[in-house]
Amino acid sequence: MTAAAEPLLEVRDLGKRFAGRAGRDAPAWVIQGLSFSVNEGEFLTIIGPSGSGKTTLLNMIAQIDVASSGMVRFQSQPAPIGDPKALNPGLTCKIGYVTQEDNLLPWRTTLQNVLFPLKVQGRLNDETRAHAETLIKAVGLAGFEKHYPHELSGGMRKRASLIRTLVYDPPVILMDEPFGPLDAQTRVQLQEDLLRLWNLGRKTIIFVTHDIGEAIALGDRTLVLSRAPARVAGEHVITIPRPRDIRGIMGHPDFGTLYQSIRAQVQ
Ligand SMILES: Nc1ncnc2c1ncn2[C@@H]1O[C@H](COP(=O)(O)OP(=O)(O)OP(=O)(O)O)[C@@H](O)[C@H]1O
Ligand SMILES: [Mg+2]
Repeated sequence: MTAAAEPLLEVRDLGKRFAGRAGRDAPAWVIQGLSFSVNEGEFLTIIGPSGSGKTTLLNMIAQIDVASSGMVRFQSQPAPIGDPKALNPGLTCKIGYVTQEDNLLPWRTTLQNVLFPLKVQGRLNDETRAHAETLIKAVGLAGFEKHYPHELSGGMRKRASLIRTLVYDPPVILMDEPFGPLDAQTRVQLQEDLLRLWNLGRKTIIFVTHDIGEAIALGDRTLVLSRAPARVAGEHVITIPRPRDIRGIMGHPDFGTLYQSIRAQVQ
């Protein structure tokens, strides 16, 4: 028997504090003693109160920001601690990051936006272009390839930014409340799109949300973060089998129990 595979991402006793503002606040710990790990192919959802440090956590995983203490290890490689100059943002395209704003380039069309990361990486060829076109069709953006971001709806922009991250095939994708500002109907549609796309490739996803229902509907496992300084207040394996029917998931017998126990932990 082989030893258990190492987790793809390991966070141990992580701490983060920002410098205090001159003459005012002492540096406060935003995250302290935070530990969890993520396995390859896992869909982890993270839920926590506003200001609990969720975005800060994703920024540290993506090496956009530096941790103050503890350890973040991705594919067995530790991230630098305390030294921002040693960071490697995005880990050379190994970590895809869908931020809360869609960050599409306004002067590029949908297709140009989606192809942009491939172009930057010098990986734009017939095969990757065909893959991009397949993804565009898969999320219902066919016919909008030549539209500019201002000509798309909010939901369409979210779809474009999602596939822009999927197209260059990073082993891990971080998503920071990507569907937060959307109306309920569009949101469900995008959740379905995401699960369908995830099912095709089974990437590792770390998905931050405010919405308990969304955390349950999408995740294999949900972490609940405490108020700042954030640590893990609870962990829930989502037992609802896949493929899941997002629209009917509230009717699943496990949904209510999971919802109640997560809600009790999200203060
Ligand atoms: N660059 C920074 N400098 C100083 N403080 C910061 C900085 N970035 C975040 N913070 C503080 O860290 C705390 C956590 O912020 P963060 O954005 O990570 O929270 P969050 O959980 O993502 O909140 P939300 O759910 O509202 O998005 C907040 O108190 C915030 O003011
Ligand atoms: Mg945030």
